[in-house]
Amino acid sequence: MQKFYHIVTYGCQMNVHESEKIAGILRELGYEYCEEAENSDIVVFNTCCIRENAENHAFGNIGMFKKLKAKNRNMIIAVGGCLTQQMGKADNVKSKFPFVDIIFGTHNLHKLKDYILMKEKQKKAVISIEEFDGTIVEGEKPYRTSYPNAWVNIAYGCNNFCSYCIVPYVRGRERSRKSENIISEVENLISEGYKEITLLGQNVNSYGNGTQDISFPRLLEKIACLDGNFRLRFMTSHPKDFSEELAEVMAKYPKICHSLHLPVQSGSDTVLSRMNRKYTVADYLNKLKILRKYIPDCAVTTDIIVGFPGETDDDFNATVDLVKKADFSSAFTFVYSKREGTVASKMPDQISEHISKRRIMELIEVVNAQTRCQSEKYVGKKIKILCEGFDSKKKTYLGRDEYGRMGYFESDKDEVGNFVDILVEKANGVSLIGKKV
Ligand code: 5AD
Ligand code: SF4
Repeated sequence: MQKFYHIVTYGCQMNVHESEKIAGILRELGYEYCEEAENSDIVVFNTCCIRENAENHAFGNIGMFKKLKAKNRNMIIAVGGCLTQQMGKADNVKSKFPFVDIIFGTHNLHKLKDYILMKEKQKKAVISIEEFDGTIVEGEKPYRTSYPNAWVNIAYGCNNFCSYCIVPYVRGRERSRKSENIISEVENLISEGYKEITLLGQNVNSYGNGTQDISFPRLLEKIACLDGNFRLRFMTSHPKDFSEELAEVMAKYPKICHSLHLPVQSGSDTVLSRMNRKYTVADYLNKLKILRKYIPDCAVTTDIIVGFPGETDDDFNATVDLVKKADFSSAFTFVYSKREGTVASKMPDQISEHISKRRIMELIEVVNAQTRCQSEKYVGKKIKILCEGFDSKKKTYLGRDEYGRMGYFESDKDEVGNFVDILVEKANGVSLIGKKV
């Protein structure tokens, strides 16, 4: 009898891609995707612990499965991802949700197949959280769900220990895949017809870190020189490691998108130093200057945290000033979330929720005004977008241009996977609405 799976994903792109790997494992076991979790034979929660709200969200959703599980005793409920990898959290999940059948971590995702087979045979829950041992698993077969886009891990983990961040604790030290494995994965994706490849790592710029034969700019160059009709992106870049050499490579090869995600986190040197970011505002602006010397039209996006412990009004105003100066095309804004075990969690002067809320609202307004202003400049211009899908509510196709701007257009044929030129007729916030030309 056909068995069905459902995966609930929390968090970033890294997790979305990990869910594709989980789906690959489940399909190998004969499971098919089911849109409704309640009608599935196995439900996997791929959790995230980067901020408290992602954690609460996952806990809330898992809790809702108690009743379903009581009705359908054969349903397997598995919880994985970086939340379970956090100190003591697996025990927490186990005691809060005794009906959970499998608990696994980020370091043993590839063993999920064994855990499921084990669980299918036994009544007892399978709980396995492994410590980081530096291994890189090759030969995974993700079931990709983002055509025409494909994500490719180039490195895992992080060595930076930004003082607010839990990632180095739950994902372990930075380790890079061999360049030949990355390149052959990309070659396969191109031959399968994928049109946009995004190289993924917590800090792609430190790829190799002395352990591989080539640096990130050379890896990017090799991939950009592969034959085929595709474009290339990468994320995330740490400003301290962003180099002129990388800007040169980005400018030289047309397949590399003129787009860079360069998280600044704060516009105050005092805060940056306490965040352990290892650059100043002046260093950051200088990197942008170098980037724009090579690629004047490069779109830069960023991440910003407000309410970091000890952040004063002056510090916050410095962030607003930086946003105005840096001309970001968009910014992801977050309220600082205290993560147990990090250096910042022990800092005095944690900022009250109402101050953080006020600051983030002010910041969002500044960011949105800038994005709107930038979008309006595109009215009357032609942009090339890679069509990613069809919005059934708006009855339009949608996709992004190389700068990451969202474009919507109508067509009477299936355009998914095509590069389409559209003439922008209207800007609506970050979205550009146009007609095919
Ligand atoms: N609180 C708020 N935001 C955080 N980020 C990482 N850790 C935290 C935290 N504890 C943000 C950073 C990072 C992005 C992926 O998430 O801005 O760049
Ligand atoms: Fe976290 Fe900093 Fe590493 Fe990014 S670079 S994952 S913010 S520790």
